[in-house]
Amino acid sequence: MKVLVLPGDGIGPEIMGSTLRIINKLNENYNCNIEPEINNVNAGMFSDGKYTIDELIDEAKKYMAILKAPMGNPEIRNAGGTESGLDIILGLRFRLDLYADVRPVKLLPGVTSVLKGFDDKKIDYTIVRENSEGLYSSHFGGLTLRDDVSIDTQVITRKGTERISKFAFELSKKSNGNAYGDRIVTCVDKSNVLKSFSFFRKVFTEVSKNYGNIKSQYIYGDAMTQYMLLNPDKLNVVVSENMFADLLSDLGAATVGGLGIAPSANMSDKMGMFEPVHGSAPDIAGKGIANPVAMILSTSMMLDFLNFKEASRSLENAVYKNLSSGLKTPDLGGKLTTEKFTDEILKKL
Ligand code: NAD
Ligand code: IPM
Ligand code: MN
Repeated sequence: MKVLVLPGDGIGPEIMGSTLRIINKLNENYNCNIEPEINNVNAGMFSDGKYTIDELIDEAKKYMAILKAPMGNPEIRNAGGTESGLDIILGLRFRLDLYADVRPVKLLPGVTSVLKGFDDKKIDYTIVRENSEGLYSSHFGGLTLRDDVSIDTQVITRKGTERISKFAFELSKKSNGNAYGDRIVTCVDKSNVLKSFSFFRKVFTEVSKNYGNIKSQYIYGDAMTQYMLLNPDKLNVVVSENMFADLLSDLGAATVGGLGIAPSANMSDKMGMFEPVHGSAPDIAGKGIANPVAMILSTSMMLDFLNFKEASRSLENAVYKNLSSGLKTPDLGGKLTTEKFTDEILKKL
């Protein structure tokens, strides 16, 4: 099974290096036959016009799975001021129609939450991020008038909202519910203020009618930031607009140990792109101390999607065992380098 591998920028190649070692071992032990095909596309790549986003998308379309490390260099910017590297990420998500970004928020064994009174059985929910429209529709557009005003427009469509709401309810249906066994989908919007969000809520409500056994609740985006800190045990599946869910997913990660452990899966109906929630972490790049867990758990999500269930579970368990026995990188209070942490994973596969 050929998989497109994008090592990206900053800590990207370091954590992808861990994952590639792990994939080799899983191929040997579990017969996965994953063949990584590496493309070193990065934030500076399109500036000289030698390689284009169209070429990357054409290549990416040949695969069922893409394993992506973080990309981005805050110093390389487009004329409009946005980061060039993000044209790659958003180009892949939008043009491959990876409309559902699944971002689990799970307190892993051996990790302590900054929230008081919550153990690993109490924080385990999933943010479903609408990944194909919302405010990010404006990324390749937007408008700056003279030097006085700049405009980005939020797009919410019936099709986009129906499919992401359905995705969220289906995920809840397959889950064990929240800490109290309730299957419940939380719709996060600001329908009190913006018509586009009110439309999002209306369509979500219509879809919810097809799922009589699953509860739903509505929480405004601002109140949700408090809810995630005070009541994470009551959450099961959360669905929201693209940019709202982007912000909420970093907040969620912070409640379960930080960005270093937060994986994600960008899904279309046909394929998936698996990547950490975090970015290229320029502040620690090159030091060999990046936490590879988010990248490794994203790989586990990919293996699960490709139906290598045993390899996926073995990898997840190896991560849990490392963390439970105190084998951690510095972001989680440990002393291990990226490489040493990976060595310890390899022993457990
Ligand atoms: P970031 O996620 O890279 O870093 C935020 C903080 O978390 C930093 O202090 C960093 O050191 C820490 N951190 C992140 N991942 C870590 C890990 N694996 N181990 C230990 N510590 C980790 O966010 P940022 O600094 O806002 O963004 C840096 C660059 O990454 C920017 O160019 C941004 O646009 C890009 N970015 C890319 C993606 C992606 O590829 N999907 C996601 C987010 C940000
Ligand atoms: C993420 C990132 C991206 C986003 C950026 C880098 C395009 O923050 O994957 O969460 O905003 O979606
Ligand atoms: Mn983000």
